[in-house]
Order: sequence, then structure tokens, then C-alpha cells
Amino acid sequence: MKKKVGFIGWRGLVGSVLLDRMILKNDLSKINIKFFTTSQVGHNGPKINNIKFGILENAYDLQKLIEMDIILTCQGSEYTKKVYFNLKKLGWNGFWLDASSYLRQNSNSIIVLDPVNYNFIKKSIEKGCKTFSGGNCTVSLMLMSLGGLFSENLIKSIFVSTYQSVSGAGSNYIKNLLLEMGNLHSSVKNDLKKNNISILKIENVVSSLLKSNNGINNFPPLAGNLIPWIDEDDGQGKSKEEIKGEFETNKILNLSKSKKIIIDSVCVRIGVFRCHSQSFLIKLKKTISIKEIKSLLINHNKWVNIINNDKINTIKNLVPSMVSRTLKILLGRIRKSSFGSKYITVFSIGDQLLWGASEPLRRMLNILIKL
Ligand SMILES: NC(=O)c1ccc[n+]([C@@H]2O[C@H](COP(=O)([O-])OP(=O)(O)OC[C@H]3O[C@@H](n4cnc5c(N)ncnc54)[C@H](OP(=O)(O)O)[C@@H]3O)[C@@H](O)[C@H]2O)c1
Repeated sequence: MKKKVGFIGWRGLVGSVLLDRMILKNDLSKINIKFFTTSQVGHNGPKINNIKFGILENAYDLQKLIEMDIILTCQGSEYTKKVYFNLKKLGWNGFWLDASSYLRQNSNSIIVLDPVNYNFIKKSIEKGCKTFSGGNCTVSLMLMSLGGLFSENLIKSIFVSTYQSVSGAGSNYIKNLLLEMGNLHSSVKNDLKKNNISILKIENVVSSLLKSNNGINNFPPLAGNLIPWIDEDDGQGKSKEEIKGEFETNKILNLSKSKKIIIDSVCVRIGVFRCHSQSFLIKLKKTISIKEIKSLLINHNKWVNIINNDKINTIKNLVPSMVSRTLKILLGRIRKSSFGSKYITVFSIGDQLLWGASEPLRRMLNILIKL
């Protein structure tokens, strides 16, 4: 019998990328899917390959949700907070699969990234685990990037600076960035056509506009700007995004306190539409040659692509636009650091809507429907 899967959040960024992948990989034929919504109850569901998927159900209707074998949600933490425990209280014993961070710290949940922690996932299912979360986008991308070093237990600590795209903050921010870009261009459009105008005058107009601008929809301006803070403030000088790095990595790898890998970061939002980049300074447990490091990295999973550490290749190939909408994990700038022979630098880029969000969930769904 095909499993009944309730899909919530399929209209959002993560959900629609996930749905596209499910269609491409023919996953819909393996399940009985029902589409839910928090805002469009009674509207038509999606029409895929000329098949209509019925009327949208109310995502807060526990009596409808309780009928599902698997609930797949890309709706966000607020939704999970409102529904998950109430559904459990009613005795629902299905599988909960979630893109949000809400349950990641819960001791009954597993963070899924099967190319990295398949055995841990399998053991957890055998032990009766029913709750699975996708990892934070930069964490999943880091583990896919550096998997070859993690799996050989070679990493002592990592410092990472992230360069995170606006789509990481949800669908509205893509529109905001485009509007901001349009406003900036409009402010100097006529001057740009003049040959004899001072470039400083143009820069002055644009910079003044940026300074006086509070952004659109209360989001600070990102066109021609960057924001070195992502998610909430922990009150101790760290953002919640920065805290997720160490916690989730060690949880995904199922490492005990004594084996914990130290990870610190500064997470930055930049005006790129899609794909997150990360610059790593890695302290290894021993000195290893760059040749051996590259071999470990490339052999960990089939999605890793290594870009030669030279100017021409880096400028042309190690950029978000080369990765966007693909499952590729690009690694470059791999070299020894001046800090010492055990330190290396790596720069990685991956599509955060694919490996950083939807693809681990899609693969986990496939593990669950085979049970
Ligand atoms: N974005 C990422 O890169 C990323 C990566 C990893 C994890 N996550 C997590 O995944 C969850 C979902 O994130 P998201 O980026 O997919 O959020 P999103 O694009 O803002 O979508 C969330 C929900 O907003 C509603 N919505 C309202 N207006 C919409 C519109 N114009 N277009 C589409 N949907 C609209 C939809 O729900 P209804 O249909 O019910 O109205 C949709 O499911 C969050 O918990 C997030 O933290 C995101």
C-alpha cells in the first residue's frame, strides 16, 4: 500500500523546489499525496503533468492530518510549533519530516543528511524514531563539502565565514532585492548615460540612497550592501544561525561531548539571489598533503567538484551562478594556511534550496516510503 503523505508548505521556496525534484524523480507515483495550506483552504491544489491534485486541505485541521502516514512540512517553525505537539497528543504515530529548525534540538529528533549520516538514520528508525528534520542550510552544505574530512575524523576545529543568499530568508526577499536594485538604478539612470559625469557623483547618489534607506518590508537593504547578522540574537554576541553550526554538525555526526568538533562562525547575508558560499579555515588533527585532502574530499560523494586554486578558474567557475539550480557542491581555494601546516583553507558553494534544504528531505521521504 502506498503511504499517505501530507505536504504542507509546498508553495514556498523550499517546498516548491522540493516539489519540482519530486516530479523530476517520479516520487509522486510512489505515494498518495495530499496538499495542505495555511492560507488558501479550498483553493485548487497543484496541477502536475495534467493531473489535478484536488482541493487544498486546512493545514491546521488535526483530524485531516492524523490520517497521514507521513507529514512533510516546509512551512516553517511557527507552523511546527502550533501543530506537532497537538497532533502527538492525539496519539498520531506517523513520521514527521520538517524543513524548519523548530525540532532540530529536540532529543527525539534526528537531523537528516543521508550521504553523511545514513547509518545513524537507519539505526534511529530501528529504535523507533519518528521525527526527522532537515539541517540548517549552511550546515548541510558544509557537511556535503567537507564530508571526506569529517568521515576520516580529521577535523579538530573550523572557523567559517558565510555568504548567504537572500532566498535563504524566504520568497519575499528575492522580490525585495530586485526592487532595491531597481530603485538604485533608477536613481542614477540618466547620469549613467552621460559620458562626462564624475563616477563619484554617481556613487554619492547611490550611497546616500542606501544610507537613508530602511529597506523594503523592514528588511535592511541588501543591494550594494551586506548584513553580518542572520536570525535571532542570543544576547551573548552570537546569532542563532552561528549557534546552529556547531550544534547541528555534531548532532548529524552523532558525536559525543568528548569527540565534539569545535565550529565557530560569522554568518553574513549578501545580495545574491540563490546559493550559499562559505569560507573555511580548518584545523586538522594532523598534517596531510593538499593532494591527499583533495582526494578525500572528491571521493566522499559524487556531487563534489573541485575547482583548481588559480585566478582564472576561481573567477570563472567558483561563483554562485555556476551552482544555482544544480546539486553540485563546488570546492575551491584549497591550500595550506599561513597559520601552520595543520591549517587549510577551503571555499565552498552549494545551492541552499537543494542540498541545503529540499534534497535531504526528498531522500529521507524515499527512505521512509520504503519501510
Ligand atoms: N529558504 C531556504 O534556503 C531554507 C533553507 C533551509 C531551511 N529553510 C526553512 O524552511 C522553511 C520554509 O522556508 P521558505 O524559504 O520555503 O519559506 P517561504 O518561501 O517564505 O514559504 C513559506 C510559506 O509561506 C506561504 N506564502 C505566503 N506568500 C507566499 C508566496 N507569495 N509565495 C509562496 N509562498 C507563500 C506559503 O504557505 P501557504 O501556502 O500555506 O500560504 C509557504 O509555504 C523555514 O522554516 C526555513 O527556515 C529554508
